[in-house]
Amino acid sequence: MEVVILPTQAAIASAAADCIEALVGTTPTAVLGLATGSSPLELYNELAERFRAGRVKFAQARAFMLDEYVGLSASHPERYRNVIEREVGARLDFAPGAIQGPNGLADDLPAACRAYEQAIKDAGGVDLQILGIGSDGHIAFNEPGSSLASRTRIKTLTPQTIADNARFFGGDPAQVPRHVLTQGLGTIMEAHHLVLMALGRGKAEAVHHMVEGGVSAMWPASILQFHPHATVLLDDAAAARLQLAPYYRHAYAGKPAWQGL
Ligand code: GLP
Repeated sequence: MEVVILPTQAAIASAAADCIEALVGTTPTAVLGLATGSSPLELYNELAERFRAGRVKFAQARAFMLDEYVGLSASHPERYRNVIEREVGARLDFAPGAIQGPNGLADDLPAACRAYEQAIKDAGGVDLQILGIGSDGHIAFNEPGSSLASRTRIKTLTPQTIADNARFFGGDPAQVPRHVLTQGLGTIMEAHHLVLMALGRGKAEAVHHMVEGGVSAMWPASILQFHPHATVLLDDAAAARLQLAPYYRHAYAGKPAWQGL
């Protein structure tokens, strides 16, 4: 795991955008993994800017979303499909149908989960997966207790995540769906490169367990310790509880420019 502590959200977004720009530059047919939540929003702004400037193209690329609420209506603004369409689809040049997500409105949810796993497999897997982290250590919607080998499936949100996400639902936890479909930890771990972004003091405990704690289903993001290419981009506040922060800063400051992330 490479931990990179950067001074601003803009610097974090720019570093993540550099990874994507390099990937689609060499592999225009790349498969990206897209995350929702507030952490990647600045990255999506940065990609939109680079697209306008002609630096990146996604016309041949494809993308898979991490997760989706169950039961939000097709037109609900917080349905993740709609969030990603607003933030990514409408601003970049992905071909129609090139961005896929789990179908939280399917009559048969287990079948929708199986179909989603198959679609990722048929696309050849995810090359670069963008991730955020929940304050309880979840990635995608893999809440504490999730199997470290899990695949796309239905999950029940924790009261903590419902409270955290209420801000997207007018501050009312009662409006947050209880159930979600999410790629499993096993699914996410098959992506070739994981780029996780975490911002703010509220993430410091989860980041501490993810990076320096024991690998445990209690802190699902800790599974990243087993990934051969995981890049963790943090601001100072999110890195506040890392014991080896001075070492991570030292290593990044001395990193040869040719090496990339
Ligand atoms: C949400 C999403 C995750 C996201 C996390 C953190 O519930 N399902 O993919 O990483 O919570 O969100 P934020 O970036 O808004 O803090």
